[in-house]
Amino acid sequence: MIHINAHYLKLNASYLFSEIAKRVAAHQQQHPEVPVIRLGIGDVTHALPAACIAAFHQAVDEMAQDSTFRGYGPEQGYAFLREAIAANDFQARGADIHADEIFVSDGAKCDTGNIQEIFATDTRIAIPDPVYPVYLDTNVMAGRTGTYRNGRYEGVVYLDGSMENGFIPALPEEPVDLIYLCFPNNPTGATITKEQLKAWVDYAAANKAIILFDAAYEAFIRDDRLPHSIYEIEGAREVAIEFRSFSKTAGFTGTRCAYTVVPKSLMAYTAAGEAHSVHSLWNRRQSTKFNGVAYPVQCAAAAIYSDAGKAQMTGLIDGYMENAALVRKEMQALGYACIGGENSPYIWIATGSDSWSFFDMLLAKAGVVCTPGAGFGTCGEGFIRISAFNSHENVSTAMSRIGQALNT
Ligand code: MLT
Repeated sequence: MIHINAHYLKLNASYLFSEIAKRVAAHQQQHPEVPVIRLGIGDVTHALPAACIAAFHQAVDEMAQDSTFRGYGPEQGYAFLREAIAANDFQARGADIHADEIFVSDGAKCDTGNIQEIFATDTRIAIPDPVYPVYLDTNVMAGRTGTYRNGRYEGVVYLDGSMENGFIPALPEEPVDLIYLCFPNNPTGATITKEQLKAWVDYAAANKAIILFDAAYEAFIRDDRLPHSIYEIEGAREVAIEFRSFSKTAGFTGTRCAYTVVPKSLMAYTAAGEAHSVHSLWNRRQSTKFNGVAYPVQCAAAAIYSDAGKAQMTGLIDGYMENAALVRKEMQALGYACIGGENSPYIWIATGSDSWSFFDMLLAKAGVVCTPGAGFGTCGEGFIRISAFNSHENVSTAMSRIGQALNT
């Protein structure tokens, strides 16, 4: 008899954003007359930069001729893209990362979800609360947790975020092996300073732990003092893997392109204490299970690093950040304390009430979709997240509708 992976039964019935989509669909069916404005899932709404589209078209034309056609590409990504990434995103910032340490992929969601499989099942994981659910759920699927009780899985070391600590969790009090960090943070929009990040790097070095650093939102940083990459911190090459994405920065949520950096100096150990290269393990995993990102998509991504591409991407990000400033200003004017929105596209708002009820109320009274904080963990209860990813017109309309809903 075929048995299921019983760890899946420990998971919540549906993924956060699927549950939201279900509730929104039900609302739309009952109220088709009110167009819903989506500020829930962080999905971009503006078209790809013109430089990316031109490169995309050209690559498609190359695929139309036998002489320029390409079949399987390198599983790690084409050299032209890996070299552009290394030079622009790392070396230009003084971070010592090389093209052959970059693995191009179809998404940071997949990479942050898949990476855990190269580590032992008894790895002790430290996960922030609130958190992007993928980090936690994929560890549940892998059998690295116990059962779910009172909103938490047994066997996980939770790193609590709160208004008091600015959603920058303290170092764990018990030993852990694998630490998930995300800055600028999804969902809270909180940012971390170089000094604060250095404390995590030192902790990981002292404990032979690894930090999984999700930097998918680094392009939204406005404050020049903040680190864009963990590799701007001394010692990080020995303790960290970093995840990046073109989804939110250049509109690739539907096009799919991202990358993961695994430095060659990063080691993990056998039970007997023998060191192994994490880069080699991830390379083995990727070349076995992944066949690379489509050539035209990689050409489109590489075009972001051209002068025109950089200017167009900055324009996109500036537009979303204007929305973020508006959301923050309006929510504060309505009397709500907020985090985020200054160096991130997410605004984390303290509602002080049940977050799913607040979500339902905003949907019913304003026709606006947000994300309930409880969906990101128990420390998210009492908060909602509003995303800045929409047109300026829609965000303005949403904020006036929210103002009316909350004032009646
Ligand atoms: C979010 O809204 O948290 C993100 O869009 C989710 C993701 O990037 O997968």
